[in-house]
Amino acid sequence: MCGIVGFVGKKEASPILVEGLSKLEYRGYDSAGVAVLEDGEIKVRKFKGRLKNLDDNLKQSPLNGTIGIGHTRWATHGEPSDINSHPHTNENATISVVHNGIIENYIKLKEWLKKKGYEFYSETDTEVIPNLVDYYYKGDLFEAVAKATSKMEGSYAIGVICKNEPDKIVAVRKDSPLIVGLGEKEYFIASDIPAVLNHTREIYLLEDKEFVIMTRDGIEIKTEDGEVVDKEVFHVTWDVDAAEKGGYEDFMLKEIHEQPKAIKDTLTSRVLKDSPINLENINFTKEDLEAFDRVFIVACGTAYNSGLVGKTIIEKLAKIPVEVDIASEFRYRDPLITDKSLLIVVSQSGETADTLAVLRDAKRIGAKVLAITNVVGSSASREANHVIYTWAGPEIAVASTKAYETQLIAMYMLGIYFGEIKGTLSKEFADELKEELLQLPEKVKEVMGNKEYIQKYASRNYMDKDTFFLGRGLDYAVALEGSLKLKEISYIHSEAYAGGELKHGTIALIEEGTPVVALLTDDKLKDKMISNIREVITRGAKVLGIAYEGDKEAEQICDEVIYIPRTSTLLAPVISVVPLQLIAYYIAKQKGCDVDKPRNLAKSVTVE
Ligand code: F6R
Repeated sequence: MCGIVGFVGKKEASPILVEGLSKLEYRGYDSAGVAVLEDGEIKVRKFKGRLKNLDDNLKQSPLNGTIGIGHTRWATHGEPSDINSHPHTNENATISVVHNGIIENYIKLKEWLKKKGYEFYSETDTEVIPNLVDYYYKGDLFEAVAKATSKMEGSYAIGVICKNEPDKIVAVRKDSPLIVGLGEKEYFIASDIPAVLNHTREIYLLEDKEFVIMTRDGIEIKTEDGEVVDKEVFHVTWDVDAAEKGGYEDFMLKEIHEQPKAIKDTLTSRVLKDSPINLENINFTKEDLEAFDRVFIVACGTAYNSGLVGKTIIEKLAKIPVEVDIASEFRYRDPLITDKSLLIVVSQSGETADTLAVLRDAKRIGAKVLAITNVVGSSASREANHVIYTWAGPEIAVASTKAYETQLIAMYMLGIYFGEIKGTLSKEFADELKEELLQLPEKVKEVMGNKEYIQKYASRNYMDKDTFFLGRGLDYAVALEGSLKLKEISYIHSEAYAGGELKHGTIALIEEGTPVVALLTDDKLKDKMISNIREVITRGAKVLGIAYEGDKEAEQICDEVIYIPRTSTLLAPVISVVPLQLIAYYIAKQKGCDVDKPRNLAKSVTVE
């Protein structure tokens, strides 16, 4: 995910571009850049890191020009660096492009352009676009962009400027968002409405393959064949704040709702029915797997909780014993890691200090390191031997939701992948799991339908001082994540316990009215779990069950039940965690807490 902007009018372009980009930083903030036509030349400024780097540079040494394009990056192809930042230009800087999306056939296009004498400097897919436009340019920018895009496969929203047509921006989208802002003798393009709201509320919402040709004197929308499209103007009534969050009250709620898409994106092209799992550049052989003396999963917080699920999955599917540990503990334990070990680190940010320290120690020893991370170009992704990216998109709320879900998906893919290589997993079972994995986005969406019920539950329980989460097997791992979510954003003390363990001490804390959330998704362990629920009910607990649709027994024993769609027991965590995230969210909201920025916490813990 990246953000793009463009402006043509009579005012200075760069402050408008930077201000627009500041509203799109939620889409990525690995680098930022602008290209402005100054005295008939395309001038580019672009810097790795936050938008502030670009802003400071432009304040010190402004670019003067009334037409330009800008970009804020969430790196996919090529690490975050100045050279990989957008805008990208052709070699003699006559064409400049900003791009959001992925050009899937860029390698083919690059090779073809190289044969025609074009040079490339970055690792990005985007760099093919200005060169392709240059190749087709015969004096009409629109025609050249139309020809270039007809050769491009994948997704894109692009803004293009050209030295030879210095009053014009041409833009187009396919499967990536793009809107047009209509001002008085000034026009804007942007990935999202907030980027233009300080200037206009009149918008065109572009459809795929609609081309915008804008100068300060007017704007035209055309099809790729040059036919003019008559578009309706959309008047925006909501404010900037709401728009950035896509209409949601908070980033956390937005991110919870993005989970079906995040899961789908993480599965795409890796899990296909009837084909072995494809983890891109990861190619372990059976011999490699058998040669590992130990497999460790090491992480912090929510990422650690996903590792607990990972342990069970890898052990069950691939019959490989796995140790899971908290990074800050593991690193000081003199762990028995050797040059024959495999270390799997899990980190949304890829920058958590303790996790990175473990990664570096392991590499020094000679162990193989596989990173599961959400951030392309993060330290974890650069330093590990292998990477599985979780395609959750930028996670802004401090409490992790969609990253956790995609970390679980990575664990399932890894478990099946190892199982397929080792031959410990029957084809029938692997196919069944893949089919069920592909159904998860829809099932997670279904759980969101329970929102109102959960909201009511929260309004009755937000004054509680303590809450207990109980589960057995994978339900216990999910209970830990539910408990962490509740305490970190609502400040209610909560604990997660393995159902059978409670009676070894903690049950002493259960008294009349103590809230207990009990997970019941493991059919094999359900009778045991029911006994554990009875134990707490006898001591006065009020129990909310999380159970599969149609589970009458859960209804009989628990005070209330939230139902979730049925899936294989192994995959249940992906679905059962959603009501727990929503419970934490609504309880925190009832209490008036800042759910996106809970006290004492930071999104990325880069200190020990
Ligand atoms: C909790 C949460 C944290 C992170 C932890 C690790 O909601 O987000 O517990 O999971 O700080 O962060 P990453 O995954 O960036 O290494």
